[in-house]
Amino acid sequence: MTKVLKIGGSVLTEKSDEETFSEDFDDVLRTVAAADRDDLVLVHGAGSFGHPHAARHGLEEGGREGAYETHAAVVRLNGLVVDALNDRGADALPVHPLSCAWRDGALGFETLPTQTLREEGFLPVLHGDVVADTGSGVSVLSGDEIAVELAALSGVEVGMCTSAGGVLDEEGNRLERVSSVEEITELGDEGADVTGGIRGKVESLLSLPSGGRVFGADELEEYLDGEAVGTLVRK
Ligand code: IPE
Repeated sequence: MTKVLKIGGSVLTEKSDEETFSEDFDDVLRTVAAADRDDLVLVHGAGSFGHPHAARHGLEEGGREGAYETHAAVVRLNGLVVDALNDRGADALPVHPLSCAWRDGALGFETLPTQTLREEGFLPVLHGDVVADTGSGVSVLSGDEIAVELAALSGVEVGMCTSAGGVLDEEGNRLERVSSVEEITELGDEGADVTGGIRGKVESLLSLPSGGRVFGADELEEYLDGEAVGTLVRK
């Protein structure tokens, strides 16, 4: 079964300092490169390579100003991610969502370039981005939304690797399973970003018939090995 793995920007970058990597950056990408990549699609978030830029220009509401600045920042991160993967033997290639997605009320996403690259044995690496948005210029497209669009490919399962480590209850314990938005708390949320944090992830995963899993970077290897880690989010 194909896996779509979304690695949160908070796992790869230091969110408090603009355009700075996290300590886990190398380890996480080494784990991805070492995994069975035959049937994997990778999506990463923007973290401090995009959120500050988008927030500065109010792009969560849509706009024109800062469109290229934000895209260029996240493309810089994508280049570094793809380079790190290829240095470790992965046949990774970038797919920039700005060039294959649009919003016109609903989100449109052309999945064929990604699907074909995967079928040809490459590891496609997509990222949160800005997208053309009818009437407002561009708006922010989160990696979570992209993961859900890619899950439209047959039989796809989504995994979200996030610094929150899962979906937590009020006491900070990780929930085994979430089947509605009412069950979630904001605890463990990644804090202020322009694309919705844990609630957004849960909503995205609940929209998929197969749902998905939310887990931490320390469980990434097990997840890629096919183990049932983290919180299962499914209706
Ligand atoms: C955000 O993508 C994209 C931009 C801000 C341009 P994500 O929402 O997927 O990023 P993270 O995972 O929260 O950092």
